[in-house]
Amino acid sequence: MKDTARVLGRMYDAIEYRGFKQEIVDELAKFAGVPVFNGLTDEYHPTQMLADVLTMREHSDKPLTQISYAYLGDARNNMGNSLLLIGAKLGMDVRIAAPKSLWPHDDLVADCKKFAEESGARILLTEDPKAAVKDVDFVHTDVWVSMGEPMEAWGERIKALLPYQVNMALMKASGTPHTRFMHCLPAFHNSETVIGKQIAQVSGAQGRRRGHGGSVRVSAESGLRTGGKPHAHDQGDSRFDARRHLSRTA
Ligand code: NVA
Repeated sequence: MKDTARVLGRMYDAIEYRGFKQEIVDELAKFAGVPVFNGLTDEYHPTQMLADVLTMREHSDKPLTQISYAYLGDARNNMGNSLLLIGAKLGMDVRIAAPKSLWPHDDLVADCKKFAEESGARILLTEDPKAAVKDVDFVHTDVWVSMGEPMEAWGERIKALLPYQVNMALMKASGTPHTRFMHCLPAFHNSETVIGKQIAQVSGAQGRRRGHGGSVRVSAESGLRTGGKPHAHDQGDSRFDARRHLSRTA
């Protein structure tokens, strides 16, 4: 990465990295000599945070520090980590709900608690999804299994996260009609959902669908792709597709 960073830094005024390990973007930033943006790593998704905070501001009348949100799902990954971190820094009311095994790393939690002391943020980590969403303004979630994770993770992960699934009952558990749902997208649709059918028709994906069940994945970064049963972000042969579209997503 060192040499690549030096070469790219001579060619570009700024670089956005969207990939895997955080150390890679750190090294890129260290040696590129130009500004480097983290467009997503396994650990963090700061550009998504810019978009999410702006979205929450746009859809709430409250000052930022009064806005509350809950993240439910795999909380030791980029989205969970980053939502905890940004809320802690900005003084917001942040609730993270997941099984303990999927909570953010202790070091990050400790850092965020320190940030919260400075910013006035309220932080709750819980295994109780209903407690997390009580009175919240926004509910966030993510995919069951993130890019780069093995296919074998699907079964166990879904089992662990099913109680944290964001569905109508969970949204109602907030107890307020104004609670809004946010998702960083990717979303998976098969051709049985209304939106899946529409997407398939618009894109002609129907015709290109492979033979085994047909799901489409829609994401801000990749538009639409087709396939069989949902993969961990279509990893495997098209895994790199998902992170090739660097600059089109926040
Ligand atoms: N946790 C997801 C976020 C995608 C925007 C992933 O890393 O695949």
